[in-house]
Amino acid sequence: MSAETAVAAENPAVFDLADPVTHADSDLSGLWRYLRDCEPVYRHSETVHGPEFWVITRHADVQAVYKDNIRFTSERGNLLTTLLRGGDTAAGKMLAVTDGPRQRELRAVLLKAFSPRVLERVSGQVRRSTRRAVRAAVRRGAFDFAGEVADRIPMTTICDLLGVPEADRPHLLRLNKSALSSDDADETFSDAWAARNEILMYFAELAELRRENPEDDVISALATGSIGNRALTVHEIIFNCYSLVIGGDETARLSMCTAVEALSEHKDQWRALREGTVARETAVEEVLRWATPAMHFGRVALEDVVLHDRTVAAGDIVTVWNCSANRDERVFDRPEAFDLARQPNKHVTFGFGPHFCLGSYLARVEMSALLGALAEFAAEIDVAGPVTRVRSNFLSGPSRLPVAVLPTAAADELDLAP
Ligand code: HEM
Repeated sequence: MSAETAVAAENPAVFDLADPVTHADSDLSGLWRYLRDCEPVYRHSETVHGPEFWVITRHADVQAVYKDNIRFTSERGNLLTTLLRGGDTAAGKMLAVTDGPRQRELRAVLLKAFSPRVLERVSGQVRRSTRRAVRAAVRRGAFDFAGEVADRIPMTTICDLLGVPEADRPHLLRLNKSALSSDDADETFSDAWAARNEILMYFAELAELRRENPEDDVISALATGSIGNRALTVHEIIFNCYSLVIGGDETARLSMCTAVEALSEHKDQWRALREGTVARETAVEEVLRWATPAMHFGRVALEDVVLHDRTVAAGDIVTVWNCSANRDERVFDRPEAFDLARQPNKHVTFGFGPHFCLGSYLARVEMSALLGALAEFAAEIDVAGPVTRVRSNFLSGPSRLPVAVLPTAAADELDLAP
């Protein structure tokens, strides 16, 4: 346990969980353990970032809050940052911050766009483009895994799905990076706000084009979609495109970087993956539990709710911490062990209940493609320089990950089999 976490175990109040720096600079595992054991429903004090909020850390309680969208609403925001600022302008329009019958209707429109036929096509593209990206990088021997590989896979996937033209993708990726987290300590809240607005405006223009000339993509499905006999409004369309591009890119990208970092640190697990002694799909689940790229989500209580011995009052902000729930000793045997063969693995990386991640299938396909390509093309992989981490109270993982890789013979073959 680090010096900081030892202090936290006696006095959790020294940590400001709303502050991005707290998560970037400290190892909070001791704090989470203390809260799970001693204060599972913890009242976080007011900070410069906003008012008080509840912190829920045990797996069972996290699932209970996620599941209960009658008493805990997402309509005032589902991230600490928006909740602390008093609400989310996309409420009632964007799936993730809509509840009740409206959420079910919107989810049905989006699920229709994510049909098995479209997902199968996109999955095939993911496997091919991941093999290509990993092989090309591995042949160089030393590279930044975040910039050379992880940056490309999820963004390509979600843009293929949405129908974002190739030429616009690098710009969208840059905007995405500043919208929720920041690699740069000098970036401000207004930079993030400007980036979010630019993404929305981009999709407004693209949706207009697709409404006139629909193609076989998700933007067209939304632009021409309807609920009952009413067409989706421009706000519903752009907020949901925004949600997909943000949800589909950052989390998956960061989980890939954490996966590579963990594999380079746990050589026995890397060998198990390479030698195929662990099933790929089982390994994918452990990597997702280990990475937990979306650390928390949030809700507002609609009525007084007693949790353990604490009363959460109507109107209170409640945050559920996936990163703690995924290390809960009550559910996971040796939770601090990175064990690719772990089964069962009931992680909450994709949430739980009515808002369960819409992109979980794609995220799993991406991670499986990455692990497969690494096992095929990399004989050894090591972190080879200082790692930079995102600064965020929501997202976690490396934004820069220098690695040194020894290529396999397959990586050096002249032609890449399809
Ligand atoms: C919802 C995590 C990838 C789209 C969620 C939620 C979590 C999550 C925890 C629940 C939010 C809540 O309850 O408030 C992740 C992680 C991913 C990932 C860790 C990658 C490793 C994706 C991808 C897409 C996506 C690839 C899109 C293709 C969405 C959407 C929702 C959602 C639209 C809202 C669902 C609803 O409210 O009904 N995600 N996600 N996510 N995710 Fe993901």
